Amino acid sequence: MLKRVSILSFILLSLVLLDGTRAKAKNKRKILIMPTSPIGLARRAQCSAGYYYENGCRSCLAGSYCSGNDSKVQCQAGYYSDTGATACSPCPRGTWTDQQGTQYSSNCKPVQAGYKANASSGATAQIPCGVGYYSPGNTDICIICPAGYYCNAQTNAAPSPCVPGRYSPTTGAGQDCTWCPQGYFNNVYGATACCKCCSGFYNDQTSQTHCFNCPGQGSVSQGSAPAATSRDQCRFQLLDYVTSCDQDRAGGACRMSPFIAPLSTVS
Ligand SMILES: *[C@@H]1O[C@H](CO)[C@@H](O)[C@H](O)[C@H]1NC(C)=O
Ligand SMILES: *[C@@H]1O[C@H](CO)[C@@H](O)[C@H](O)[C@H]1NC(C)=O
Repeated sequence: MLKRVSILSFILLSLVLLDGTRAKAKNKRKILIMPTSPIGLARRAQCSAGYYYENGCRSCLAGSYCSGNDSKVQCQAGYYSDTGATACSPCPRGTWTDQQGTQYSSNCKPVQAGYKANASSGATAQIPCGVGYYSPGNTDICIICPAGYYCNAQTNAAPSPCVPGRYSPTTGAGQDCTWCPQGYFNNVYGATACCKCCSGFYNDQTSQTHCFNCPGQGSVSQGSAPAATSRDQCRFQLLDYVTSCDQDRAGGACRMSPFIAPLSTVS
């Protein structure tokens, strides 16, 4: 009995010892391999910049860069790379990406009309221009709405011209253009001002594309002060006032030597 136990112990002990020896051999081999292993802090880099190590030096993958320490690192948002890159490049002006690891500049998205990139290069977002501005897209700037136009919440690529009978004297208008007041008119798109009705004409309405003839043309009562706002004002000598208006008398067109309509009379 005792003999059997001691034999068994011997066998077990031998197994343990043998295993220990094997483990030691394994460790020894690991230590020897360390310097050429891709992992390991003290190892010197083997691959030059533009390459990374994975069972040998490999060309850096698109969407990453390889700075020469054998690793590859994903491009951050706003940047892209081609294969073999030593650094990532910012998305070109007017494009953007919110993704990491963007491959090639073609995957930087163009900015939509009505938006601008949030940086001149390396943009990570596009932001809406907002009222009073527009953008044709592919840009990092929004353009202020010009005078004679308006840019509201529906505006994207191009500003909307004021329709005839309306005007916008300032840049950056965010709502539809102002009506021409009584005594004034215009008949062009994109007007920055309204025209004064000439003597012999009147306008008793807002937002008009023409002035109305005073009654009794050819008589002494045909005249009116320029910018007359009612028919009742048709009682002056025509020639007294004819030079101070800006209406083309032949066709009734607005000559657009802009007498800016007084805003106080706008309804
Ligand atoms: C290699 O370089 C990159 C960027 O310079 C860095 O993020 C990374 O941690 C480095 N890797 C090693 C293993 O040093
Ligand atoms: C662009 O937008 C992103 C996301 O909103 C933001 O993290 C980043 O700081 C912005 N960049 C600039 C230059 O404003």
